[in-house]
Amino acid sequence: MRKILFAASECVPFIKTGGLADVVGSLPKYFNKKEYDVRVMLPKYMCMKQEWKDKMEYKTHFYLDLSWRKQYVGIMEMNLDGVTFYFIDNEYYFAGPTPYGNIYEDVEKFAFFSRAVLSALPLIDFRPDIIHCHDWQTGLIPVYLDNFRFGGEFYQGIKTVMTIHNLKFQGVWDKKTIQDITGLPDYYFTADKLEAYEDANYLKGGIVYADKVTTVSCSYAEEIKTEFYGERLNGLMNARANCLSGIVNGIDYEVYNPKTDKMIQKRYSVDTFRRDKKKNKLALQEELGLEVNDKKMMIGIVSRLTDQKGFDLIAYIMDELCQDDIQLVVLGTGEERYENMFRHFAWKYDKKVSANIYYSEEMSHKVYASCDAFLMPSLFEPCGLSQLMSLRYGTVPIVRETGGLRDTVEPYNEFEKTGTGFSFSNYNAHEMLGIIRYAEKIYYERKREWNKIAERGMRKDFSWKNSAKQYEKLYEEM
Ligand code: ADP
Ligand code: GLC
Repeated sequence: MRKILFAASECVPFIKTGGLADVVGSLPKYFNKKEYDVRVMLPKYMCMKQEWKDKMEYKTHFYLDLSWRKQYVGIMEMNLDGVTFYFIDNEYYFAGPTPYGNIYEDVEKFAFFSRAVLSALPLIDFRPDIIHCHDWQTGLIPVYLDNFRFGGEFYQGIKTVMTIHNLKFQGVWDKKTIQDITGLPDYYFTADKLEAYEDANYLKGGIVYADKVTTVSCSYAEEIKTEFYGERLNGLMNARANCLSGIVNGIDYEVYNPKTDKMIQKRYSVDTFRRDKKKNKLALQEELGLEVNDKKMMIGIVSRLTDQKGFDLIAYIMDELCQDDIQLVVLGTGEERYENMFRHFAWKYDKKVSANIYYSEEMSHKVYASCDAFLMPSLFEPCGLSQLMSLRYGTVPIVRETGGLRDTVEPYNEFEKTGTGFSFSNYNAHEMLGIIRYAEKIYYERKREWNKIAERGMRKDFSWKNSAKQYEKLYEEM
């Protein structure tokens, strides 16, 4: 039996700010249970729902000797759907209304978490063969592990994987402070280790010290070796190219299933979507105060509202797009300029545009189920899960050909009658508008073709089945 420990800063259903939580919460369920014991370790945030906190069981606690003070580390445990979760409890670090706050606090919070994860291992009766770290918040784990190995036999032989979900976020702060916070010796703070451009960089530390580095799609694994996508670490990504691979994300096919989804008005399958999917659209039009008409092409967006997702392009052509015979439903939160942009257009075109500036799992399911098309013109996209959810619900994605979007959405070819969506190549607003209008044309003039595109998307398999196997293979190689 191979023992794997996931360490991460978010995980569904406990706490989520983006796709990372979906991955950490669903992937562990899909390993072969006869060969793999995969467990997950997370911070116990105070902002988690009480319902979850009530289900946690106290396991043990100890005190961690940080360089300048002792900190309490509680370990809580819970089993959910056959997976064991551990929660690191410390009310000083994990208070706060959201998992992340100011970066200068977060760097200390996750240095504590990373050390606590390693220090907890001897006490929980689970010595992992591999620790699988996710994003910068856990980047110090491979570094600390290197440091801990000097201290004792227990840690020798434990291997690490560092998965990059988004290279843009690296956990960067000044070297002196980080040295103080982490208690790591000078030795680690050089340009071939934790240091990057004179600061300390958690993700870089993880990438340097992990035995294997992965990212969440093959295209992104290539892209991050270039200057445009490399976020100033492209040199390092090239240097580690031998240990770097891309494994595309899946989604939880039980949670995202139009056949059984309790959050949507009318359930449907690949056999009934032509008749039943539009009932969801009618209900949503009604609910959001849009013109109620099942013939109108409805385009959806569910997203963090940040420049990563291509909202500059959308802002640039919104007025033009709103002249077309379409409806646009947006669900998202994030940068104020984008929130206000959508609010403005929802006011200006109130029967056509609906701006829902909040976070809601339920509304997201309604949008995936109701819309005809889903717009995701990202500037960069390590993988992207929203387009996979759309495909699953027969909602045709319109995407920019980058990262995981390029790997998961096959552009429609009207001559060969293939493809599951629409895509464009350059980060250019009118190139995007051109492809949206091409999609409109197919939708209004060749509805049977449209439905076949949707059907091909629904028949694709983006469950975790394949990708979990690839992770198993990676673990075996180690
Ligand atoms: P990222 O992780 O970069 O934000 P992904 O496409 O990988 O992008 O994952 C985004 C996840 O967050 C999806 O599950 C999506 O449905 C969800 N999501 C984003 N914004 C909202 C929102 N306002 N309400 C509900 N779910 C949201
Ligand atoms: C990040 C990326 C997104 C990816 C998600 C899960 O948030 O922005 O593309 O799908 O992580 O891996």
